[in-house]
Amino acid sequence: MKNITCIEDLRQLARRKVPRAFFDYADSGSYNEETLRANRADLEAITLRQRVLVDVSERSLATTIVGQKVSAPMILAPVGLTGMQHGDGEILSAQAANDAGIPYTLSTMSICSVEDVAEATGRPFWFQLYVIRDRGFSKDMLARAVAAKCNALVLTVDLQVIGQRHRDIKNGMTVPPQIRLANIIDVATKPAWAWSILNGKRKTFGNLAGRVKGMENVNSLAAWIGTQFDPALSWKDVEWIKSIWPGKLILKGILDADDAKTAVKLGADGIVVSNHGGRQLDGAPSSISALPKVVDAVGSDTEVLFDGGIRSGADIMRALALGARGCMIGRAYVYGLGAGGKAGVAKAIDILTKELSVTMALTGTNSIKDIGPQVLVNGAGKKTSARKRKG
Ligand code: GLV
Repeated sequence: MKNITCIEDLRQLARRKVPRAFFDYADSGSYNEETLRANRADLEAITLRQRVLVDVSERSLATTIVGQKVSAPMILAPVGLTGMQHGDGEILSAQAANDAGIPYTLSTMSICSVEDVAEATGRPFWFQLYVIRDRGFSKDMLARAVAAKCNALVLTVDLQVIGQRHRDIKNGMTVPPQIRLANIIDVATKPAWAWSILNGKRKTFGNLAGRVKGMENVNSLAAWIGTQFDPALSWKDVEWIKSIWPGKLILKGILDADDAKTAVKLGADGIVVSNHGGRQLDGAPSSISALPKVVDAVGSDTEVLFDGGIRSGADIMRALALGARGCMIGRAYVYGLGAGGKAGVAKAIDILTKELSVTMALTGTNSIKDIGPQVLVNGAGKKTSARKRKG
């Protein structure tokens, strides 16, 4: 990992080490990938305000997110199939997050189960729920998350139907991987990956296998989601989940101010401004362009988190300056996992943390609560709830 200096280095290494079907699964957006590109382009277009001769010797990145102390304003985002980037990928990522003092979020569509991660880490983590047609499964899944001591629930609300990712279809992406000639040749050139998967705890979706029909062999993730995910999911289900989940509830996948207001009315503790990393509604606005409107629509009782295109500490600074309380990191750590297992995830977190620290220094900022629109060029006059940021 010595010559790895940025997230793009981890991405390039992951591309060489992870079979194409799984690298592409993580790397892709939906359809023409317009929103995927907009997430990055709009972040890069925000210029930071350089300030000099401010004493920045006592900087701290520590803050709180939904009442939890964190060493930096970051959360590892829920990512489906993490355990196909590297054997036991969810456990290794959760351990790296614990070591760094930031939360880890386990996806419903993970390879290691919620029990596997709880047993291997012994520390509370966040759980992400997809509501499928069988509400009994969701209820049971929440009970399992409570038993595993998960200390926040992230309910994903932007995937009732799946946005098509062309590369998944072209690659014939399946779980477990399909035995076909192209895959065999690909895997033969990735022996470290194959070894880690063979030695991993599980080869299919750990939370679902044995509990949901057809889960042992998913030949087409999109087709499976099409039959199991519920297009009828509505705000009523959010009320239901709120009534049965005892902890903090965070709604992930909100881009619109009106939706944000409804989430607040229903008592969400947090929302994640997100377009699912450009993987769902292609043509939707970039997450960063949607953030200020959502922040303005939400009072100070609901925390606004952000995801979508974070590849550097400067990006985290940009999102915080526009009112985010913290950022969910998705692809950036998944590339790290594919590149080097737990050490790769740790490297991704370390890169982002150090970059944020330097960005704070060069914008004359000492603490997370001091980050606001004034760190942006032309930002001082912007009205965002960053002004209302509490301690
Ligand atoms: C699932 O969350 C996906 O984006 O593939």
